[in-house]
Amino acid sequence: MPRTAPVSDWSSDFDVLDPRYVADPFGIWDGLRTTCPIAHTDRRGSTWLPTRYEDVTAIAHDIGHFSSLKVAVIPMGSGEEGAGQLEYGLPPISSDPPLHTWTRRLLLPWFSHQRVESYVPLTRELCRGLLAHFVDTGHADAAVDFAQQIPVRVIARILGVSSEMSDAFTGWVRDVLEFADDDERRNHGAGQLLSYFESQLDLRRQTPGDDLLSELLRAEVDGAPLDDGIVLGMAALVLIAGVDTTWSAIGSSLWHLARHPEDQKRLVAEPELMPTATEELLRAFAPVTMARVVTGDLDYEGCPMKQGDKVLMNFPAANRDPEVFDRPEAVLLDRAHNRHVAFGSGIHRCAGSNLARMELRVALEEWLQVIPSFALEEGREIVWAGGQVRGPRVLPVVFP
Ligand code: HEM
Repeated sequence: MPRTAPVSDWSSDFDVLDPRYVADPFGIWDGLRTTCPIAHTDRRGSTWLPTRYEDVTAIAHDIGHFSSLKVAVIPMGSGEEGAGQLEYGLPPISSDPPLHTWTRRLLLPWFSHQRVESYVPLTRELCRGLLAHFVDTGHADAAVDFAQQIPVRVIARILGVSSEMSDAFTGWVRDVLEFADDDERRNHGAGQLLSYFESQLDLRRQTPGDDLLSELLRAEVDGAPLDDGIVLGMAALVLIAGVDTTWSAIGSSLWHLARHPEDQKRLVAEPELMPTATEELLRAFAPVTMARVVTGDLDYEGCPMKQGDKVLMNFPAANRDPEVFDRPEAVLLDRAHNRHVAFGSGIHRCAGSNLARMELRVALEEWLQVIPSFALEEGREIVWAGGQVRGPRVLPVVFP
C-alpha cells in the first residue's frame, strides 16, 4: 500500500508509487513533457523526474554531477539504501569509476553473444515445459505461470546455484525491488539473499566449479583477490538485475499481444519480424527506472538541484518522447529506427542486455508456437508492480 497521499500535482509533488502512476504512467509523462519536463517532489526526499529523451540521456552520461552511489528509486525509510548491508553496495550498478570500471569488466564476458547463445536450448526447454503445464486448460496467469518462471532459472544456471531455489530467489528479489515502501520486507529480502550467497561462497571455496561465483573467487585485480564484499555484491546484483527486469519485459509484451490480436497474427505469420518486434516491445514497455544522486548543487535546465537530491533515470518516459520516436504511443512491430534506452545509456548501460533480449525472444517464440491466439480473461484484474521495475504481476489470459 502506498504510504503517501494521492497526487494532485504531478509537476511539483509526484509519487511513482501512486496507484495511478503504477497502473498507467504514460499519460502522466506526456503531460509533464509538454508542461514541466523535469518534475519534482519532496515525498521520500527531494527527487527530480526528467521525461525527455535528451535530458535522461544527458544526465546518464554526466557521471560527475550524477553519481550512481545511490540508485534505489525508493530510499529506505531510514534514508539508507537497500544494499546498505553491503560495504560496496552492488557493483558495478551502484558504483562510480574506478570500482565500476573493473567490476563491470569482470561481468561482461558472462553475457557476451556467444555465451548467451549457449543458454538458448535451456531457455527453450524451460519455456516448453512451462507451457505444457497449462496449454490444455484454456487459461493461465501469463505472469505467474510463465514469465516469472523463466529468467530466475537461467540466472540460477549462470550463478551455478540450484534451480530449486527459484521461488525463494523470486521472493527475495521482489522484497528488495517491489516492496520498497516496506523497510522490513526489503531488509528481510536483502538479508536472506546475502546470507544465501555467503554460504554459497564458502561452498565454492571448497569445491570450485565453472560458474560465475567460482570465477569471481578466482579473479584477481592488481594481483590481489577480490574482497568478499565485492563478490557478494556482484553476485546479488546479477540476481536482482536479471530476474524482475526480464520477467517484467516478457509479461508486458504478452499483455500487449493479448490486447492486440492483429499483432499476434502478424508475428505468427512473419516470424522474421521478431528482432524489431522485441526491440519495439522493450521501447514501449521499458521496465526499469534507476536513480542518481546529485554530487553538488547545480542548476540543470532551470532546476535548482541540491547536493544529495535524487534524479530518477526515467528511461521508460524517454522511450516515449515524440521528439525522438514517431508515433511513440503506437507499438509498431517493424519500427526500423529505434534508439530506445530501455537498457539505459552511458557507462552503466545494461551488462545483461544480450541475455534479456534472448530470453524475451525465445519466450515469445515458444508461447506463440503453442498458443498463437489468446486474450485477456474478461472480468479478471491485472496487477502491475511499479517503482524501480514495472511489469504485470497478475496477468490472466484465455485461449482456445
Ligand atoms: C529486459 C530486461 C532488462 C532491462 C530492461 C534492464 C535494464 C537495465 C538498465 C536500465 C540498466 C542501467 C542502470 C543505470 O543506468 O543505472 C541496467 C544495468 C545493468 N543490468 Fe540490466 N536490464 C535487464 C536485464 C538484465 C539481465 C538479464 C541482467 C543479467 C544478469 C542484467 C544485468 C545488469 C547489470 C549487471 C547492470 C549494471 C551495469 C553497470 O552498472 O555497468 N540486466 N539494466
